[in-house]
Amino acid sequence: GETLRALAQRHGLYVGTAVNMDALQDPAESRYRELASTEFNTVTAENVMKWEALQKEKNGPYDFTEADKLIDFARKNRQKVRGHVLVWHNQVPEWLGKGVKDGSISKTELRAILERHVKTVVSHFRGKIWQWDVVNEAVTDPWDSPPSGITYRPTPAAGAGDNQVFWADHLGPGYIADAFRWARSADPQALLFYNDYNLEAFGDEGPMDKVQFVYNMTKNLRAQGVPIDGVGSQGHLSTQYGNYSAFQIRDALDKFAGLGVATAYTEVDVRSQRTPAVEAGDTKEINPRLQGSAFNYSALLQGCLMSRKCLSFTVWGFTDRYQWTNDWEFGGEGRTGLAAIYDTNYNPKHAYQSMRADLATA
Ligand code: G3I
Repeated sequence: GETLRALAQRHGLYVGTAVNMDALQDPAESRYRELASTEFNTVTAENVMKWEALQKEKNGPYDFTEADKLIDFARKNRQKVRGHVLVWHNQVPEWLGKGVKDGSISKTELRAILERHVKTVVSHFRGKIWQWDVVNEAVTDPWDSPPSGITYRPTPAAGAGDNQVFWADHLGPGYIADAFRWARSADPQALLFYNDYNLEAFGDEGPMDKVQFVYNMTKNLRAQGVPIDGVGSQGHLSTQYGNYSAFQIRDALDKFAGLGVATAYTEVDVRSQRTPAVEAGDTKEINPRLQGSAFNYSALLQGCLMSRKCLSFTVWGFTDRYQWTNDWEFGGEGRTGLAAIYDTNYNPKHAYQSMRADLATA
């Protein structure tokens, strides 16, 4: 049958995956390479463009070796690249996290370090990145917000890890506008995105409505002339919390489009509950339609297809063989190895078939 990529092209939609560079280069994983190149026409680096992967020492050189290999793979396979990620509170180098914690890096120095980082990375890839995730996950969730509501993410009560920096604490929320301006100056062609999770559907639009906060933030940035071109909705879903209809998804994407920005689904995966039988090793215990839930993948994809400014739909790892939720508990939904659209042996699952059907019939 036709690939997702071929079907998506009919709609002018790009369908993508996050790429694990270890898997991509493993001599035993030819099937990984085959599917990554044939089924998708856009790719994202799962980890190798993150700051901790690029600059191991303070003032040290950047090592783009692994990231460049992905760029090369994409070029050979005529795929567009989503750049991930410039400014995030996680996966920053240890020297940076420690320096901020122990006070040896002042606020003034921190801002200069961030500016240099954004400009260095964006310049290196100039002309080769389609969409950049410039700022990622900058705001709180309802469960870790103060009573006043969603806000810019502060250092959690438990304190920051050595590979974390909570930017707004040190630089104020203005770092967001700065980061977009620095990125634009280094590559005027790339589409610059704000990227976050739990943006699927608008709720009561009150102070605890995260998507409403991100909407207001985007609106304000645009009003100030900040070069933000898009909002990425990650789409890390669970079959236990948050099952959306395609119409809710479309409405949220359309609402952002109304601000003049593009949208994209950037990190889609769907966790499923672990049952006692699954725990004992029987993954078939879960209704196969809920394994990497076909319903949820479909709702997001159909919503994206219905919203004219939704540029791409990227899954966060296409196979359960390499999928980040396997390493986390998620209250019984992680470690089940069920969140992706292919199983651990690269067999397409119901979720894959639903995506194909959506693309074939839309
Ligand atoms: O870098 C070390 C390596 O030196 C060591 O050998 C290895 C051994 O476990 O660990 C490596 O670090 C791991 C890193 O991925 C690189 O492979 C970390 O332990 C692991 O926690 C980290 O997980 C990544 C996670 O972000 C961390 O924040 C996942 O692979 C990645 O899928 C995930 O992606 C994020 C997006 O960037 C942003 N949105 C949420 C999404 C899911 O959390």
